[in-house]
Amino acid sequence: MEIKGWFGEDVAATYDDDTAGLSAPEVLDPQLDVLTELAAGGPVLELAIGTGRVGVPLALRGLRVAGIDLSAAMAARLRSKPGGDEASIPVVIGDMTTAQAPGAGSFRLVYLVFNSLMNLTAQEAQVACFQNAAAHLAAGGHFLVEMPFPGLRRAGDRFRVFDHSDTHVGIDEYDVTTQRLWSHHIKFLPDGRVQRASPPFRYAWPAELDLMARIAGMRLVHRWSDWDRTAFTSESTKHVSVWRKGRQRLVEEPTRMRLRRSPAFAFRRPRIHCHDVLIVRPSD
Ligand SMILES: C[S@@+](CC[C@H](N)C(=O)[O-])C[C@H]1O[C@@H](n2cnc3c(N)ncnc32)[C@H](O)[C@@H]1O
Repeated sequence: MEIKGWFGEDVAATYDDDTAGLSAPEVLDPQLDVLTELAAGGPVLELAIGTGRVGVPLALRGLRVAGIDLSAAMAARLRSKPGGDEASIPVVIGDMTTAQAPGAGSFRLVYLVFNSLMNLTAQEAQVACFQNAAAHLAAGGHFLVEMPFPGLRRAGDRFRVFDHSDTHVGIDEYDVTTQRLWSHHIKFLPDGRVQRASPPFRYAWPAELDLMARIAGMRLVHRWSDWDRTAFTSESTKHVSVWRKGRQRLVEEPTRMRLRRSPAFAFRRPRIHCHDVLIVRPSD
């Protein structure tokens, strides 16, 4: 997988320092409040849990937290934190599009924060991620994604400066034909060296994510502009979106045909909404 090399030991070693601003209580606490509320006391799964920037403090609030991450180096940082031991936060090292965490099917909340969905650089992989999230949820559970709102305003836009300081210049490069995005980082180190990195991403508009959610059997219930639940608008720079997994009945096609003919089904029919029923055909 292309992204694997981007979160090796070199990135893991400085990740928490580099993102310290995101861990400040005034930034992180509203995030933990939303996640705690959606979890409703149940177990939660963080996809791309990384160093546990969010997962560890959430577990310290008393929630059962599990994680999936591709990078053993990032997970090792999580392990070194108080409350980050294996018994407290089980982490599966694997791809969030396919890996299965213990307890799959019973999570009340699955979440994927920062910009980590964009680390999946193909539409197929992002769809698979939604499907894997849904497979981990209990019926009625929620999937939350925090995602940048693409900074494009005109189809011809290609470069956007997102940071400019004495120590760092950050420029996003968009390819609107493929929805690929490269974040070019140029760092000016104290010893005079200059470091450059250009990790690849795939951006997606909210409507496309809603379609991915529907493919995975989930419906949008919230879209906020930030963790403080302010309204999402065309000026928002990111969104926090929440989809709910239907209270599905997994019905094999032949069974469904039998149900249609059964008088008992006819009696119960008004209480069944078509979007709550997932038809599983042997060929799917
Ligand atoms: C920017 S970090 C975010 C970590 C953490 N969620 C946070 O908010 O601090 C992105 C993480 O995504 C992980 N990642 C990237 N692609 C992945 C994949 N396909 N499956 C699982 N984890 C992945 C990386 O290893 C890294 O830990």
